[in-house]
Amino acid sequence: MATLLYIKANPKTNQDSRTFRISETFIDSYRKKNPGDQIIIRDLYEENVQPLTAEQLQERFNAMDEESIKKHPVYKYALEFKNADKIVIAAPMWNLGFPAILKCYLDYIMAVGITFKYTENGPVGLCEGGKKVVHIVTRGGVYSEGPAAAYEMGDKYLRVVFGFLGIYDFTTIAAEMLDVIGTDVEGIMANALKDAEDTANNF
Ligand SMILES: Cc1cc2nc3c(=O)[nH]c(=O)nc-3n(C[C@H](O)[C@H](O)[C@H](O)COP(=O)(O)O)c2cc1C
Repeated sequence: MATLLYIKANPKTNQDSRTFRISETFIDSYRKKNPGDQIIIRDLYEENVQPLTAEQLQERFNAMDEESIKKHPVYKYALEFKNADKIVIAAPMWNLGFPAILKCYLDYIMAVGITFKYTENGPVGLCEGGKKVVHIVTRGGVYSEGPAAAYEMGDKYLRVVFGFLGIYDFTTIAAEMLDVIGTDVEGIMANALKDAEDTANNF
């Protein structure tokens, strides 16, 4: 039985968010195909994930034994992430990146000794072992190709961060150009929903 961690980073509801329309389709298809798997949903806004505080940083620098780490709230998300086999991130493009709450969450999961470590040859990811990530994103404009491609920093950042942690199986499902007047929004969404179903069936 695999564990899938579904990370939601948008204040909108499933009904109002185009990103969640795609990610919920992905999760429904995955659930049908893998009824025995555990799916953990982390809605970052419902969780009210906050930036790391000075106190929490200090707690992370205090030497902790393995047992204390497992119980300490500051490591909750990092341990959950480390234990997941598959990760789905649903986040719209915001200001060339993604909603800031997702960065706050990443600051929790990037934990020395859990998801990566420092060695004399530099940092090494500790999430190796075949974890897979799917990033589901919608965008108002076009950033996957063309003149604005260099400005895209959300998907790129996630890809680099997960590579840093030792996760190289990274797939992107993107629906773009959704805010451009005259666009066939439903046509683009239909393609993305199909992509989500197909990807989920082989995830
Ligand atoms: C705060 C904010 C910032 C945005 N920044 C960008 C952007 O930089 N580039 C872009 O193409 N679209 C941008 N958009 C548009 C959204 O990416 C687009 O409408 C997306 O489909 C919204 O997803 P949702 O329906 O899941 O909320 C932004 C939207 C918001 C609300």
